[in-house]
Amino acid sequence: MKGDFYVTTPIYYVNDIPHIGHAYTTVAADVLARYKRLMGFRVLFLTGTDEHGQKVEKAARAQGLTPIELADRVVTRFQDLWKKLRISNDDFIRTTQERHRIAVERLWRTVRDRGDIYLGEYEDWYCIPCENFLTQTQLVDGRCPDCGREVERLREPSYFFRLSRYQKPLLEYIERNPDFIQPEGKRREIVSFIKEGLRDLSISRTTFSWGIPVPDDPGHVIYVWFDALTNYLTAAGYPHTQDGFWPADVHIIGKDILRFHAIYWPAFLLSAGIEPPRKVFAHGWWTVEGKKMSKSLGNVVDPGSVVDEFGVDQFRYFLLREVPFGLDGDFSTSALKQRINSELANDLGNLLSRTLSMIDKYHGGTVPEPSTLRAELEGRIKSLIEDLFVQYTSAMDRLDYYGALGRIWTVVRELNIYVDKSAPWKEKDPNTLSTVLHTLAEGLRIVGVYIYPFMPDSANRLWSQIGMDREIGGCSLQDEVRWTGKTTGRRTKKAEPLFPKIR
Ligand code: MSP
Repeated sequence: MKGDFYVTTPIYYVNDIPHIGHAYTTVAADVLARYKRLMGFRVLFLTGTDEHGQKVEKAARAQGLTPIELADRVVTRFQDLWKKLRISNDDFIRTTQERHRIAVERLWRTVRDRGDIYLGEYEDWYCIPCENFLTQTQLVDGRCPDCGREVERLREPSYFFRLSRYQKPLLEYIERNPDFIQPEGKRREIVSFIKEGLRDLSISRTTFSWGIPVPDDPGHVIYVWFDALTNYLTAAGYPHTQDGFWPADVHIIGKDILRFHAIYWPAFLLSAGIEPPRKVFAHGWWTVEGKKMSKSLGNVVDPGSVVDEFGVDQFRYFLLREVPFGLDGDFSTSALKQRINSELANDLGNLLSRTLSMIDKYHGGTVPEPSTLRAELEGRIKSLIEDLFVQYTSAMDRLDYYGALGRIWTVVRELNIYVDKSAPWKEKDPNTLSTVLHTLAEGLRIVGVYIYPFMPDSANRLWSQIGMDREIGGCSLQDEVRWTGKTTGRRTKKAEPLFPKIR
């Protein structure tokens, strides 16, 4: 074991059913979790649902349900989708669980005992969709600056967290941990936001009741973001044990919720004397066919139907290959088809089927043993594949999925060029022919390992077609990507298209 690795997604509100934005964060976290397991880490991969707060209470009322009834219904939609998307989470947290209430109460009491919570009165604006407190000057045309929707005026007694005390400690923490906020541009935004000055933060509400009561003052419920952020600690075992998983290695989130994760959350933790997470990575947002996704436009993409139509691995691949992680992207059916047909079906799928049928035709369906490698042909392939290890792992460790896939595809294309150059169908020398067939099988075996975190089912199918009898998930990446000739003597299977062409 290399050590522990803890990766999280945001916990999703249960007021609404899952869409492509939720799928995006969760697939990205899944790829990282699978990669780290292959690298020998003990992984805790957490996702879950954020079930308290005014927004969920309001949505439940509108549907004639109690909040917990709504949560119970919607939570299965998320869980079913994660199964369908092959999400390998180790835990699923719901903020209505007992273990979570205990953790939130303990964190509250600890922060309070540090002298960082006091009773006052909140009088200002609130955005329910964002569950965010706003000042008059933050509003844009009287509306929420983040989501553009209407805000409501609040005036109620409230507990406050002394966020203002943490301006300096936060800046110091960010300074000392330059990778804490990623991507870099987001780090700069947060730093300048903090430098403008931090006001104390309202962390309780009295005008609705769907939440965790404030310890020793049950007339208040704890602010939903204080409650929600604590989920990351709950799942690590807080307050009982932290079992090696805390601090979290990375919270993967969308850019819209960065302030909560990069300012409030580390401030609560610093107050409680708990180490902040090592990294918060904010990804970009998807538009759909060039437009903002919204219920009123009726263009919300249901990830389940994309999977039914195009396939699960095709969807996972597209999400991480279409835009560099951290930037905004556009989801369109034409772009999805284009990637499937050219990169998956043509580049990789065809390479596999050509290889299998040549092994079948020229070597009776068994991968031959190689003889001498020719420097400018097999030697070149072998060294390209050997170089991939450092390129791939350094990209993956930076959550540069786009870069990692780009590197793999460079090799895939080189393998295709190699097929054409070495032209096995014309080869007269049986030794050379064996070397070519072996090189292709060995190259594909190794490519299979690298694509596994992104496309686990297809990678395993690729392995099984070239005659490997293990699941990649149980292997060690370092062992399996070495050019060891493990494919020699394997019985290949009949070529079945890995990625059917889409018309
Ligand atoms: N419950 C809070 C998170 C609490 S974490 C302690 C929340 N939930 S959410 O359901 O509204 O959204 C969760 C995630 O979905 C966010 O990371 C957000 O960025 C992401 N997305 C929502 N719409 C999106 C797109 N159109 N594109 C990409 N991601 C988007 O916020």
